[in-house]
Amino acid sequence: MTKLEQTKLTRRGLMAGALAGAGLTALPVFGQSVASPPMDLRAQVAMKRLLPEQYGMTEVWGYNGGTPAGEIRVAQGARVQRRLVNELPQSTSIHWHGIRIDNAMDGVSGLTQDAVETGASFDYDFVAPDAGTYWYHAHNRSMEQVARGLYGPLIVEEADALDIDREEIFMFDDWLVDPATGQIKDDFGAAHDLSHGGRSGNYIVTNGTFGLTKQVKQNERLRLRLINTANARIFQLQFTGLAGWIVALDGMPLATPEPLSATLLLGPAQRADVIVDVTADEGGAAGILAMLDQQPQPQVLFDVTGRASTNRRPEAGALPPNDHTMVSLEQTRRIELKMEGGAMGGLRSAMLGDQNMGFRELANAGQFWAFNGAIGRMEDPPLAKLERGEQVRLTIANETSFPHAMHLHGVHFHEVSEDGSLGPLRDTTLLAAGRSRDIAFVADNPGDWLFHCHMLGHAASGMMTRFEVT
Ligand code: C2O
Ligand code: CU
Repeated sequence: MTKLEQTKLTRRGLMAGALAGAGLTALPVFGQSVASPPMDLRAQVAMKRLLPEQYGMTEVWGYNGGTPAGEIRVAQGARVQRRLVNELPQSTSIHWHGIRIDNAMDGVSGLTQDAVETGASFDYDFVAPDAGTYWYHAHNRSMEQVARGLYGPLIVEEADALDIDREEIFMFDDWLVDPATGQIKDDFGAAHDLSHGGRSGNYIVTNGTFGLTKQVKQNERLRLRLINTANARIFQLQFTGLAGWIVALDGMPLATPEPLSATLLLGPAQRADVIVDVTADEGGAAGILAMLDQQPQPQVLFDVTGRASTNRRPEAGALPPNDHTMVSLEQTRRIELKMEGGAMGGLRSAMLGDQNMGFRELANAGQFWAFNGAIGRMEDPPLAKLERGEQVRLTIANETSFPHAMHLHGVHFHEVSEDGSLGPLRDTTLLAAGRSRDIAFVADNPGDWLFHCHMLGHAASGMMTRFEVT
């Protein structure tokens, strides 16, 4: 072999090696762009500094260890792909609250999927059709799993950015902690909570922090995405040093923004998007207050330092509407839902499955609430079978002594105003004790859709039913 040939060979060898090397590095990149594995949401037990120093660390459950879990933020119409990996000591699933979703991706254990066992995983893959503020949370043994911290924000952005300085997401919650141990009380089935107003906490937080404080500037314009993740607490919010408008409820834009006036009520699972201008003076205080025992308490504090501009901006406009099938009240099928039971409710008996039981017997079975005379359970026949596209007007009569926050999966509904006009689109409606309200919707999403009280202890003890859309 001549020297030249040797060089050629060597060179060829080098080139082949380089190509092979390039191929090796190129392959995974290629693989990623074609079918990347979805990002993990690991449902995990984690230790968090939730309480003041002297209480030590608190065990929480969170996605990727965080509570609230990291925000998921996508463009309107984008696809969301996440792999739930269950590292909890219990089975679980994830519900994407408020998203008009494919039924198979709705995440309701025992209805739209089997609960994901410890060590197993489940791939969620869906499109987010509507811009707005949503959230995701556990949907198996929800009253326990959400109370332990399994939730996070899901934000779907409008195509065009708003004229604001910045935005903040505030998730309001109340943890029920035992001051002696600094741990979350694990009496999730407590009969008193189930039969009364639900499980209320003793440590009220925003984004997991008590007395959350933010720096703002005078005349700064903020979009606040407010989310109530509590098991049962209704947040009664007031704004101070801020002026602005409610621009969306439960993700859906209001046709006309509503000036922020006295009190904004946010029931469990409800959201509100507000656009506020900081009107407090420099060095002054602004923030969100929550009523607690008739007293306003600071929920989020804004420290006003500096000025964004010398003048306030012009009034904020409406957000672009999401595409939505309009309901026509004249063409609706009327359905009624009578809610009964609970403490001081006077329920004598109700059907549990195919057995008629007295209130005491029901209480022994951990059941306290009835829908149309039967304990409401997911496994029972649906409240109604609907044809796809059918229009429904549902009268919900709350004949109990407590407020309830009724949530419909898979579709937004209009609250029907007292004057018979269509009110805002919502996915959760808050009903005061003894009141009745009509909601109306077009059943345009096929599948099995849960309809339940989002006071999660109430759902677990009789306030659960569903619609079947074929
Ligand atoms: Cu946000 Cu059925 O729940
Ligand atoms: Cu309820």
